[in-house]
Amino acid sequence: MAHPNKPHNTGFITMKSEHVSRLKHASAPPAFVLPAHDDSAVGQLCRELDAAFAAAETGASFGLRVRYALQRAIADSALLRPDQRIGDAHGYHRHLIAADPLGRYAVASLVWEPGQASPVHGHRTWCGYAVIEGVLSETLFRWDAQTQDAVETRRQPRVAGAVSFVDAGRGTMHQLGNPANTGTRAISLHVYGVAGEHIATHVNDLIAA
Ligand SMILES: [Fe+2]
Repeated sequence: MAHPNKPHNTGFITMKSEHVSRLKHASAPPAFVLPAHDDSAVGQLCRELDAAFAAAETGASFGLRVRYALQRAIADSALLRPDQRIGDAHGYHRHLIAADPLGRYAVASLVWEPGQASPVHGHRTWCGYAVIEGVLSETLFRWDAQTQDAVETRRQPRVAGAVSFVDAGRGTMHQLGNPANTGTRAISLHVYGVAGEHIATHVNDLIAA
């Protein structure tokens, strides 16, 4: 019987811990808490996420609004600063770029060098992502309750412009990565339903160690 902690061979180099860049100076103002008048692409994204929460209270589709917000955000070439596009040779790198002052969501860029990938995981919260540049590969899994293991169901390329939204749970397990043979960096934009300080610890429900 397969074990839930058995690594899945999907051809990627996976990492055991996630790299997250944060503010280096504790005395500096929390730059990721955006002022209301911020008219940058990130500020616009945050306002649209705020609107998605407000609309959801009236029954509107939250996931659809998040997808549209991500789609608009990545259309702006000034969305990310140069330092938010920097990768790490040791594993895919996550830059926290905005966080909701109310703790309802956090926004991050993820930088994937060729051959880097996430672990196979479900989600403890809702998540949305969009591919900004490069081509990611997404491998999808279903949870087999009998064997208590993730079973691969599909693998698909996710090109620049691709947008996705998933709810929490093991119904939408996946692994994202930048295949080694692309030879080029990939960057994606992610929104998670957690406070900024929980972005590395309260999102992924890891299936493989
Ligand atoms: Fe994920």
